Amino acid sequence: MGLRAADDSDRDSDDETIGMIHRRDNGGASSAPATSSRWVIDARQLVRTYQMGQNQVHALRGVDLQVGPGDMVAIVGASGSGKSTLMNILGCLDRPDAGSYVLDGVHVDTAGKNARADLRNQKIGFVFQGFNLLARTSAVENVELPLLYHRNDHRLPTRRLAEEALQRVGLGDRMDHEPSELSGGQQQRVAIARALVTKPSLVLADEPTGNLDSRTSMEIMALFQDLNREGVTIVVVTHEDDIARCTNRKVELRDGLVVHDERLRDRVDAAQEAARRKSSDSVIA
Ligand SMILES: Nc1ncnc2c1ncn2[C@@H]1O[C@H](COP(=O)(O)OP(=O)(O)OP(=O)(O)O)[C@@H](O)[C@H]1O
Ligand SMILES: [Mg+2]
Repeated sequence: MGLRAADDSDRDSDDETIGMIHRRDNGGASSAPATSSRWVIDARQLVRTYQMGQNQVHALRGVDLQVGPGDMVAIVGASGSGKSTLMNILGCLDRPDAGSYVLDGVHVDTAGKNARADLRNQKIGFVFQGFNLLARTSAVENVELPLLYHRNDHRLPTRRLAEEALQRVGLGDRMDHEPSELSGGQQQRVAIARALVTKPSLVLADEPTGNLDSRTSMEIMALFQDLNREGVTIVVVTHEDDIARCTNRKVELRDGLVVHDERLRDRVDAAQEAARRKSSDSVIA
């Protein structure tokens, strides 16, 4: 996580960032050129190299990835293979050094910083392994935050929308709890509510279950599957094969390249699997 390049002032490092939320003063997604594309994600030959003193780290070495609307994709690969680097580019949090990225028909690579911030706010929900919630801030306020930065409509009923999103993830009775007063799974639910409150067409999740036990992980995947059934495109990074099997497609990265891209048939129903794990937990207990 936190893959900002410290050496490049053109990147977003000077944005005022609160988790996934960026405050913007001017500019707009409309300034990014649009194109017709049947892909939500159309990334070609993405290259990202980090400069570390005298050394270069080739995190991405020419990644191609096309994801259609309504797909649910797992990105897998060993630690250091470039998964988070790729997700940060797909999420408009970082820019590639070379290659092109068209998001929902908009050329991200040529878009300015403000336009990318707008794209991020309008089209993308980001969920991180570490939840990235604001401490000493209630669940409902955390979820409300992205709406406060939605400058297109100042009359949004932000509190009501945040409450609905929390109800949606099963936390209607935890609205006023702060992150420290919630379990890990509940905190991740708050983060998912925060990701979906802006009604994004794409949800990117970087190891969203990495800090959770196996049953809670399945419950979180069930939420993603629900969203996906409603048509939201989902890309999830995971190390775990049972999580990948809850998706429709598995893309494997190795040393900054896609080495395997496989469509999965009969994805695991995560809600059923969570229930099964719950009942076997109670048998063991
Ligand atoms: N900000 C950075 N500066 C320099 N090198 C970096 C930076 N971020 C990542 N890297 C390097 O780029 C490569 C890819 O890192 P990345 O975080 O994308 O891997 P990953 O597949 O997400 O790994 P993990 O499974 O451990 O999260 C690694 O070799 C890493 O050390
Ligand atoms: Mg990572």
